[in-house]
Amino acid sequence: MDTTRLHETATALVADGKGLLAADESTGSIRKRFEAVGVESTETNRRDYRHMLVGTPGVGDHISGVILFDETIRQAAPDGTPLVRLIEDAGMIPGIKVDKGAKPLAPHPDGGETVTEGLDGLRDRFHEYAAMGARFAKWRAVYSIGGGRPTDRCIQVNAHALARYAALAQEAGLVPIVEPEVLMDGSHNIEACFADTEAVQRAVFRELHAQGVMLEGILLKPNMVISGKDATDQADPDTVAERTLACFRRTVPAAVPGIVFLSGGQGDEQATVNLDAINRRARRDGAPWSLSFSYGRALQQAALKTWAGDNDNAEAARAAFLERAEANRQAALGQLAA
Ligand code: 13P
Repeated sequence: MDTTRLHETATALVADGKGLLAADESTGSIRKRFEAVGVESTETNRRDYRHMLVGTPGVGDHISGVILFDETIRQAAPDGTPLVRLIEDAGMIPGIKVDKGAKPLAPHPDGGETVTEGLDGLRDRFHEYAAMGARFAKWRAVYSIGGGRPTDRCIQVNAHALARYAALAQEAGLVPIVEPEVLMDGSHNIEACFADTEAVQRAVFRELHAQGVMLEGILLKPNMVISGKDATDQADPDTVAERTLACFRRTVPAAVPGIVFLSGGQGDEQATVNLDAINRRARRDGAPWSLSFSYGRALQQAALKTWAGDNDNAEAARAAFLERAEANRQAALGQLAA
């Protein structure tokens, strides 16, 4: 295992306030996103849309890496240039989502909990992705709050799988992005999110340690500590920042180079403002890790709406995308312009 290279890749992904574009929606998720703007989810449309995003001039000034889906890492632009090459030429690092999705957790598949699958054959898949140019990977575990969830069982099985994935990724020379997402769905308050996020992170780092994962060569991709989407009392950005930093200070070792948050259904602006508040507070109080973004929806929503399946709209859509990317880079530095 080349530990130096892993650490270099991980630190490059969070350098200079840059963050990640998550463009790795599964076929089912991208269909839903496309349907919302009246676009049919064909392979060509998916290629055109993602080509538009990664080919945006200047995107590499704000985005350090792009997480791709299996289909996309194999695709090329209409002129035959592989999308991976376009990403590299723009100064960004290609990454790959390797999990096979969150599946109902046995033995109570109606219990509303999931375990993320995809470990079988993963060593071979990593070798293939590395040969295609991927230098980092992503695996997402999901936990919901409410009705006795998340259970210890859900926390344990997902932590175990995340650590097995992370160990295999590092063995193949890819930086694992470890993504345990505590969902913001529900009416719970921010303290409930704090408690469950803390429990999840503790279990994840216990397993990463137990399975020999080198913490200097991973990135953590968590939810922010935030009020439930339907809570009547919504915590303000400074409270989100204070609780988020307190939670991760307790649970995430200083050896981890960076924490890159998911947007998780926050509005575009909300995700940016909260990240800015987190970084302003971290600068004041000190924090051992870089704190940046790995956003899917919060980076893409405006661009997708503007594109709406018509490549004649590509220029305007790219401008919308670049605006969100630039704002999030400012937020990752704690310098969001008012
Ligand atoms: P969102 O920012 O839309 O939550 O997506 C990030 C991601 O990669 C989820 O796995």
